[in-house]
Amino acid sequence: MSHYLDRQCTFAILVASQLLFLVYYSFGGLQNITSFFSWTGQPIWDYTKTHDVYTNLSLIQQPPSGADGLPNCPKKSPYLVGPLSIQFDLVPPFAVIEARNPLVQAGGLYSPPNCVPQYRTAIIVPHRNRETHLRHFLYYLHPFLQRQQLQYGIYIIHQAGNQTFNRAKLLNVGVKEALRDEEWDCLFLHDIDLIPENDHNLYVCDSENPKHVSIAMNKFGYRLPYKTYFGGVSAVTPEQYLQMNGFPNEYWGWGGEDDDIATRLHLAGMKISRPALSLGRYKMIKHKLDKGNEENPKRFDLLFRTRRSWRQDGMNSLTYVTLSRQRLPLFTNITADIGPGPSATGSTQRGPLAQSAKGQEAGASRALGGT
Ligand SMILES: *[C@@H]1O[C@H](CO)[C@@H](O)[C@H](O)[C@H]1NC(C)=O
Ligand SMILES: *[C@@H]1O[C@H](CO)[C@@H](O)[C@H](O)[C@H]1NC(C)=O
Ligand SMILES: *[C@@H]1O[C@H](CO)[C@@H](O)[C@H](O)[C@H]1NC(C)=O
Ligand SMILES: *[C@@H]1O[C@H](CO)[C@@H](O)[C@H](O)[C@H]1NC(C)=O
Repeated sequence: MSHYLDRQCTFAILVASQLLFLVYYSFGGLQNITSFFSWTGQPIWDYTKTHDVYTNLSLIQQPPSGADGLPNCPKKSPYLVGPLSIQFDLVPPFAVIEARNPLVQAGGLYSPPNCVPQYRTAIIVPHRNRETHLRHFLYYLHPFLQRQQLQYGIYIIHQAGNQTFNRAKLLNVGVKEALRDEEWDCLFLHDIDLIPENDHNLYVCDSENPKHVSIAMNKFGYRLPYKTYFGGVSAVTPEQYLQMNGFPNEYWGWGGEDDDIATRLHLAGMKISRPALSLGRYKMIKHKLDKGNEENPKRFDLLFRTRRSWRQDGMNSLTYVTLSRQRLPLFTNITADIGPGPSATGSTQRGPLAQSAKGQEAGASRALGGT
C-alpha cells in the first residue's frame, strides 16, 4: 500500500515538473516570438510626435570630482528620444548655440563627461558661403551628437578663392586634417544643408562597408532617388577610405562626385551599407539658389573613367595648401587652397561632368578677369 502511494507520488512529481518545464519553455518561447516580431521591422517611428533637439541634454553632467575611473558609455545611450522637431524659420546666432552647448570644447570637439565613449567620429563638412546653413547645422548637430554619447569633432572645410566648387576634394582635405587631431574611428561626410530627423540614427560606421546614411530626404519624398545614390551624408572608417583611395580630386562643379565615390567603393571590393529607411531621414535646408542635384550623370562614362583613374586620382594624389585652421568655439574652421580648377589646368573636359555648365562659366569669367 505504501509502495503504491510512493509510486503515485513520484509520478505526480514527474508530471508536475514536466508541466513546469512546459510552462517555462512556452513562456520563453512566447517571449521569443514577441521579440522576434518586434525586431523584424525596425520600430515604427511616429514622425508626428517629435522632441526638441535639446531634450535631455542638461542631464549630461560632469561626475563629482574625485570620483576616479569613468565607466564605459553603454552600447545604447539613455538620452535618445527618437524623432526631432526641426524648423528653419529662425537662424540661431552663434552665441545662442554656444550657450546651449556648454560642454563643447574649442574646435567643436566633445567627449562625454560622464563615461568613456565607445566611438570617435569626425564630422566633415565642405562649405562655401552658406553662413545661415552653418548656424542651423551646428544648432542641431551638436545636441544630436552629444545625446549619442560620442566623442566627436566638427570640421568645416572652406574652399579658398572663387573657382568652381569641388566637394570631393574638400572631403579629402577634411579627412586628412581631421586625422591630424585624433585617430577617429569613423568619418562622417556631411552636406551642410542636411539635418538628421531621428537621434537613433547613430553617427557610427559600419565596420564592413561604407555606409550611406541620408537615404530618406524630404526633398526626395523620403525615398532613395536611385539605387547607387551615395550623396548627402555618408560614413566611412579611415581604413575603408584608404581602401578606395579616398575620393576623386577632379570633380569640379556640383554633383556627380558621389556617384564616382559609389563606383570606386565597388571597384575597391566593398558594398554600400544603409540604415533602415525609417531611420536615415533628413530635412534639407532650402536654398535660394538651389543648384539642383544633377540627375543621373552619364554613368557609363563615369564607370569607365573611374575604373581607369581611381588608383591614381584620390588620396594618393591629393595636393592642397592649408590657408587657415582655427579652433572656433563650435567647429574647426579650415580654409584650403585646393588649386585652380579645371580650365586653368587646361583640361576643361576633365569629368564626365562637363555638364558643369556653371563650372565652365566660372572658368570663362576667370579667363576674362585674367586671374
Ligand atoms: C530565444 O531567444 C534566445 C536569444 O534570442 C535564443 O538563444 C533561444 O534559442 C531562443 N529560444 C527559443 C525556444 O526559440
Ligand atoms: C529623455 O527624454 C525623454 C523624453 O522626454 C524621456 O522619456 C527619457 O526618460 C529621457 N531620458 C533620460 C535618461 O532621462
Ligand atoms: C571673387 O568674387 C568676389 C565676389 O563675387 C569678387 O569681389 C572677387 O574679386 C573675386 N576674386 C577673384 C580672385 O576673382
Ligand atoms: C572661417 O573661415 C572662413 C575662411 O577663412 C572665414 O571667411 C569665416 O569667417 C570663418 N568663420 C568664422 C565663424 O570665423
